[in-house]
Amino acid sequence: MGKCFSCNEWNTFIEEVKITGKKTSDGKSWLYGGKSDTKPVLLSEIESDSVSRIDTKSEEFNRVLGGGIVPGSVVLIGGEPGIGKSTLMLQFALRVSSIKTLYISGEESEEQIKLRSLRIGGKGISCLIYCETRIENIIEQCHSVNPDLVVIDSVQTVYSDSFESAPGSVTQVRECTTALLRYAKENNKPVFLIGHINKEGHLAGPKVLEHIVDTVLHFEGDGHHSYRMLRALKNRFGPGNEIALFDMQNNGLREITNPSEILLSQSEVPYSGTAVGATIEGLRPLFVEVQSLVSPASYGMLQRVSNGYDAKRLNMLIAVLEKRGGQKLAGKDIFVNIAGGIKVNDPAMDLSVAASIVSSLYDRALPPKTCFAGEVSLTGEIRAVQKADQRINESEKLGFTRIYLSKYNKLTKKSQAKTELVFVSTIEELLKSLLH
Ligand code: TYD
Ligand code: MG
Repeated sequence: MGKCFSCNEWNTFIEEVKITGKKTSDGKSWLYGGKSDTKPVLLSEIESDSVSRIDTKSEEFNRVLGGGIVPGSVVLIGGEPGIGKSTLMLQFALRVSSIKTLYISGEESEEQIKLRSLRIGGKGISCLIYCETRIENIIEQCHSVNPDLVVIDSVQTVYSDSFESAPGSVTQVRECTTALLRYAKENNKPVFLIGHINKEGHLAGPKVLEHIVDTVLHFEGDGHHSYRMLRALKNRFGPGNEIALFDMQNNGLREITNPSEILLSQSEVPYSGTAVGATIEGLRPLFVEVQSLVSPASYGMLQRVSNGYDAKRLNMLIAVLEKRGGQKLAGKDIFVNIAGGIKVNDPAMDLSVAASIVSSLYDRALPPKTCFAGEVSLTGEIRAVQKADQRINESEKLGFTRIYLSKYNKLTKKSQAKTELVFVSTIEELLKSLLH
């Protein structure tokens, strides 16, 4: 066809192959009685040669992955542009010199990658660089090079000739990922996919991508800080919501093994509006400082700004402080910030945010060496948090002398820590205790 009857444009027809599906001998569709080679197997009879995970030579990275890289797994690493995804993957490819890595880049040239590797300081004796975006070529090279680990930077740049749509489109991303998934499973090789994040903070490309891969990691951080957080959003082979912290330095990423010590301010003089939240992210305690500023709004529009803490949750907390705690927050601008530019999801953070808002409202510093762990409910009740013992022990380790907890927290055994435990059951009790 040359010209379209409908729009009168030339060469706008696209060939579409109709897939009819396999038919069985009696002419029925395969859905109703087709034959396949695989058969159900008894679970007890399936052999597993106790999966030996690949050590990434990084304690933090290993932990987020649930103890190393599982052969045959597909891991998606998402993050905003410039956050350091390529640096992270190249650094690990260079560090683990005992395994052969095939690093496929569709975004940078060989020279650019070389420059980056010089900056990180790795030789790359077992790391192969392949700048290609056509998936057919990539899979072919994977078969001929036979690497122990494949990295695709990024999944949005790869494309297949079989589909008309542009690279990065839903069809291309989904089909290319499926091809890589098949390669990973059939050859029992791990594949890492780097993915971009769109403006709304979702992994660009179809949501199905997150469903088909085994592990989804999120690399996040604030452009103004050097701290980066690697968070497991989904992990078929390890605990979900595990985090690792890194510091982006001039010569690559450095692991932070004692995050709380870095994230807490070292100032001796307590300021009003700051409180320390005793949170747990994944399996590890993470103590962070929350800073609040409450000031009279000078213009009509009220400002409620939150960095690192869920904004909706902040609004809820303000409403609870007003209604259940009797605090006058209407007509006030409220800013909340988690120090270090990191994000925390633990609901136990609520109590420290509430305390810091009240502290700023009255311009009174909270008692020194005090931390908080409790979830605030809409009724104004302070709800119990998980792993209270672990939080108490960590608070002692970090030099806190007092921790606020919910009255409903049942401690398994009498705590050995010297930290004073203050139990509160409602937001009113918290206010009374802080403002006595
Ligand atoms: P990059 O890995 O290119 O980000 P992504 O792949 O997620 O887009 O990281 C780029 C940023 O990291 C850039 O702003 C420079 C910075 N950087 C350092 O600070 N130190 C380093 O050693 C390297 C390699 C990069
Ligand atoms: Mg990159």
